[in-house]
Amino acid sequence: MTPSHFSRILISKLPKIIPKSTINFTSTIKYYSTPSTYQFIKVEKSGEKKNVGVITLDRPKALNALCQDLVTELNEAIQKFDSDNSVGAIVLTGNERAFAAGADIKEMADNTFSKNITSAFLEHWSGVAKARKPVIAAVNGYALGGGCEIAMMCDIIYAGDKAKFGQPEIAIGTIPGAGGTQRLTRAIGKSKAMEMVLTGNQITAEEAEKAGLVSKVFPADKVVAEAVKLGEKIASHSQLTVTLAKEAVNKAYEMTLQEGLHFEKRMFQATFSTDDQKEGMKAFIEKRPPKFTNQ
Ligand code: CAA
Repeated sequence: MTPSHFSRILISKLPKIIPKSTINFTSTIKYYSTPSTYQFIKVEKSGEKKNVGVITLDRPKALNALCQDLVTELNEAIQKFDSDNSVGAIVLTGNERAFAAGADIKEMADNTFSKNITSAFLEHWSGVAKARKPVIAAVNGYALGGGCEIAMMCDIIYAGDKAKFGQPEIAIGTIPGAGGTQRLTRAIGKSKAMEMVLTGNQITAEEAEKAGLVSKVFPADKVVAEAVKLGEKIASHSQLTVTLAKEAVNKAYEMTLQEGLHFEKRMFQATFSTDDQKEGMKAFIEKRPPKFTNQ
């Protein structure tokens, strides 16, 4: 049995390690032949090669408050870009005043405990976190409550210099419900997260960068362009390998160190069954840019 044959068998066994969908890049779905009919978001493809999907939250009068219909549209747009082979990364943004000011308080104010349970309230909010492709948040203005939580579901956060992050739920008699107590704590540590969650205080873009919540800060009018540029760079690599790399980093949040190291090693070994690993290393040796095929 050749090493390559062995590797093929290994990747055929991958579904036991990772979901089959993770390695399926064969579906080509075209969603862009007709104009978008979304009410609360806008979608477009950006970048020189139109390989970065951009989703803009577009409910400006309510500071992009995340009503149920907006979240449903956002999930749908994420899924469509995720299944589109021409898209290698997704940028999620809002407007200069707000990325999103949280869940829609007016919509949920009269909810009851039993309604929340029976309607599985907030349970469909994890669409962004479920994306296989990298999602970059480009945050300007307020990212509060559910807005901060959606930004944290993204893989990378870029912020405009006037951005503000916060979990102000405590001030309206509730607590974060879409990851604010969990993802924020993992991102910036217990003391800072506790301070934000218990006071409702906001932090600036600069503070968020210092704390590790945000990876870079740009002038407000540059942040989307910079996020698209980052998306283009990611999209220039093998989508197959990018997906495995993203999944491996995310395992750091879910597994013990030993389990995570084991998972990473298996994924690394499995990459050697791909055409893209062969092409990437061959191109390096031949001193030329690689031509990845996502196979
Ligand atoms: N839900 C519904 N509407 C909202 C909203 C929200 N989260 N945030 C802002 N809006 C609406 C306002 O009601 C207002 O609408 P009207 O003009 O119709 O009154 C409009 O957006 C503009 O808001 P403001 O007049 O309040 O603007 P401001 O500049 O004075 O203040 C702000 C801006 C500090 C962001 C303030 O709007 C605010 O505190 N918003 C609420 C933030 C918040 O508490 N978010 C957490 C929500 S709960 C949650 O997200 C739970 C979860 O974990 C999922």
